[in-house]
Amino acid sequence: MLKIAIIVGSTRPGRKAEAVARWVHSIASKRTDAQYEVVDIAQFNLPLLDEPVPPSMHKYSKPHTKAWAERIAPFDGFVFVTPEYNHGTSAALKNALDYLYVEWNNKAAGFVAYGSAGGTRAVEQLRLVMAELQIADVRAQVALSLFTDFENFSAFKPAAHQEKALGTMLDQLVAWSHAMRALRTRAADLQKLAA
Ligand SMILES: Cc1cc2nc3c(=O)[nH]c(=O)nc-3n(C[C@H](O)[C@H](O)[C@H](O)COP(=O)(O)O)c2cc1C
Repeated sequence: MLKIAIIVGSTRPGRKAEAVARWVHSIASKRTDAQYEVVDIAQFNLPLLDEPVPPSMHKYSKPHTKAWAERIAPFDGFVFVTPEYNHGTSAALKNALDYLYVEWNNKAAGFVAYGSAGGTRAVEQLRLVMAELQIADVRAQVALSLFTDFENFSAFKPAAHQEKALGTMLDQLVAWSHAMRALRTRAADLQKLAA
């Protein structure tokens, strides 16, 4: 069974990210194509990156890094639930991404974003980051509007069409997560042959 994490991309008190992630989980859980779990970066209390060695060297030294790596490693794909802060993603999500490397590599991702313009600028920025982390990001995305998907810019009340948009994104994410899992297996087999 594929494992897909729904990453809560804001750590702000009073954040909207939690309600959005719960909505993604409630719809995704009705599907039978993967196991979906909410992963809240706030629970890991990650300081601003404090590892002395670049994460791509995979020499994690801090307990919080090891705990975060252990949580992320088993997943085949990710739904990043992201706010838009100053036309980018949140510093908390970027920091959490920066902490790891191999745990992200050759996996797939889709985005659920929110903001005055559907969080689209945050997603465009994240797509550049995905390339460097070797994460294959799917085209379909969910763009939630602060004007029409949140009552009084606060209570989350997604418009009916957003559920369909989420379904399309998850269809693509599941397909690509399978493809990337096959790629990881093949890469591991080739490594064994070379050893
Ligand atoms: C520091 C900061 C910068 C923001 N910049 C933008 C922005 O550039 N575009 C936008 O659409 N909304 C912006 N907003 C509004 C957020 O989309 C809105 O506050 C949202 O609820 C933040 O997500 P969160 O509640 O999950 O943290 C900004 C909010 C904050 C706190």
